[in-house]
Amino acid sequence: MSTTDTAPRPATSAGTPIPGSPVVTVRDLVVSYGPTRALDGVDLTIDAGRVHGLIGMNGSGKSTLFKALMGLVKPTSGTVALFGEDPRQARRRGRVAYAPQDEDVDYAFPVSVREVVSMGRYGRLRSTRRLRPEDRTAVDEALERCELTDLAERQIGALSGGQRKRAFVARGLAQGAELLLLDEPFAGVDKRSEATITALLRGLAAEGRTILVSTHDLVAVPALCDELALINRRIVAQGTPDETLRPGPLGEAFGGFVPVEALRREVAA
Ligand SMILES: Nc1ncnc2c1ncn2[C@@H]1O[C@H](COP(=O)(O)OP(=O)(O)O)[C@@H](O)[C@H]1O
Ligand SMILES: [Mg+2]
Repeated sequence: MSTTDTAPRPATSAGTPIPGSPVVTVRDLVVSYGPTRALDGVDLTIDAGRVHGLIGMNGSGKSTLFKALMGLVKPTSGTVALFGEDPRQARRRGRVAYAPQDEDVDYAFPVSVREVVSMGRYGRLRSTRRLRPEDRTAVDEALERCELTDLAERQIGALSGGQRKRAFVARGLAQGAELLLLDEPFAGVDKRSEATITALLRGLAAEGRTILVSTHDLVAVPALCDELALINRRIVAQGTPDETLRPGPLGEAFGGFVPVEALRREVAA
């Protein structure tokens, strides 16, 4: 391993993405839970420096795809690469951060917002496991960026849904992650928090970070996403919101039920 492999990256700026090199490459991915085939031949390529939406109804495999990208579920077949390498390797290097959907997180765990964000630094610490001054600076900057400075000492369980999501984003920033995976960041989040998170993610993408956000809320999509992938156990369409938010692909993604109400609000927006 060369020294550049382990050299800490600055926490406040993303690594320089090589133009045209995909951050995420998924090929013919199949994931099964016993008899349930959650993903059935997913092909997905994600380029750097953009906000990508992963859109699909409940049970369409969004969370399973996130877990596969993190190396947390084992593919039945097919391949997943982050930055051209194994997801576990990308995780070890701190290049990817993951905010699970609310159902997968135990918010009763007694830990403060600052402690959650500090976890982003643990991968870099040597044997002492103590935060150094530069770690504390990175944590403070991440808290500030996510508008959590005033809430830093509060227990994570005492935050609103939107504030919790921002705490996970802050942890990823403290870590210096180049790829942020956010599973349903808008579920149970009020409109104001949604706008705050949207502005935050747009700013991070403008700096070169790559963001993948799952949602079933189409209304949030145009302000947030540069590109969408519609999923229904496989990717049924990928492209700009204009290219993909059409009755054909939406019908395929939502199993024949086109969310007309959401579409109408899209058009009106
Ligand atoms: N741990 C699990 N064990 C068994 N089945 C699961 C498990 N996790 C998800 N599934 C099933 O896999 C499918 C996809 O689920 P999921 O990836 O959670 O979809 P989404 O996040 O889009 O709602 C669903 O049919 C779900 O019931
Ligand atoms: Mg899910």
